[in-house]
Amino acid sequence: MIPPRHYLQFKDFNAEEYAYLFRRARWIKDKFKRYETYHPLFDRTLVMIFEKASTRTRLSFEAGMQQLGGSAIYLNTSDSQLGRGESIEDSAQVISRMSDIVMIRTFEQSTVELFAANSRVPLINGLTNELHPCQVLADIFTFIEHRGPIQGKTVVWVGDANNMCNTWLQAAEVLDFRVHVSSPPGYGPRSERINLVGADRFQLFDNPRDACRGAHLVTTDVWMSMGFEAENEARRKAFAGWCVDSDLMAVAAPDAVFMHCLPAHRGEEVASEVIDGPQSLVWDEAENRMHAQKALMEFLLLGRVDEGLDGVRPATNYC
Ligand code: CP
Ligand code: NVA
Repeated sequence: MIPPRHYLQFKDFNAEEYAYLFRRARWIKDKFKRYETYHPLFDRTLVMIFEKASTRTRLSFEAGMQQLGGSAIYLNTSDSQLGRGESIEDSAQVISRMSDIVMIRTFEQSTVELFAANSRVPLINGLTNELHPCQVLADIFTFIEHRGPIQGKTVVWVGDANNMCNTWLQAAEVLDFRVHVSSPPGYGPRSERINLVGADRFQLFDNPRDACRGAHLVTTDVWMSMGFEAENEARRKAFAGWCVDSDLMAVAAPDAVFMHCLPAHRGEEVASEVIDGPQSLVWDEAENRMHAQKALMEFLLLGRVDEGLDGVRPATNYC
């Protein structure tokens, strides 16, 4: 059996593979916009496992798989045996015998790693407490669409050094750009994350205004990620000075863009004037989850395909 390739973290692919994926996402998106049928994954089944809530991830994977000619099955913890203690190892064995590709959204990164180790088919990380690679894949695709290559640019992360921030740090290493991070005391990146990023790619700032100076992309996320709701009150107080507003955007580069993975809380991590303003790319960013993930699923299942291979069902079948 061919060992499956997984997408568990951003650094699972190299820069050259990302260049291919971004080109491919553009091609797939153009086809979708022209209403042209493209079914390279005809008859393939995606299983989506959700142990946390989702709007975009579920919708983009389910719609995307359907548009590629396959089908998607939704499982969640409360309706499946996963919620009644069936082991990840056993679940992975069974689920991967009845499907061609699996996406999981869960708490621990170790869960996706354990699932992948026991899976006969590719596994995609649809968000863990640690990482959210599909989102940053879509975000960088969006940046490229609007501003060209991200290489050499500066991205600012304002707020909680969460799964999104960790993924941006990985992406900076792989795709050769800089990340400035400004978080309230106690909510910055953990040292084991920082140690993985070269000093030339990463800088910490106490003041978000200093972090934003001259930046090409300003991005943030909720103050309370899923699973951290118990810290609600403490976080509200700590993050009060870390709202991306027009004052912060004013010190960024004149053509800087704003992104947010969504869902957003206006008046907390971002001001309405920014997320609803002319520099915001959040709706393109959300839509691009679907196009980028279609390219990702196609790549994991079929490898590199030439644009002339429409309709051909390649031989690779992990099952
Ligand atoms: N950005 C994102 O992953 O959104 P959902 O939680 O709605 O899937
Ligand atoms: N950091 C957020 C992202 C949601 C898409 C969370 O983990 O809840």
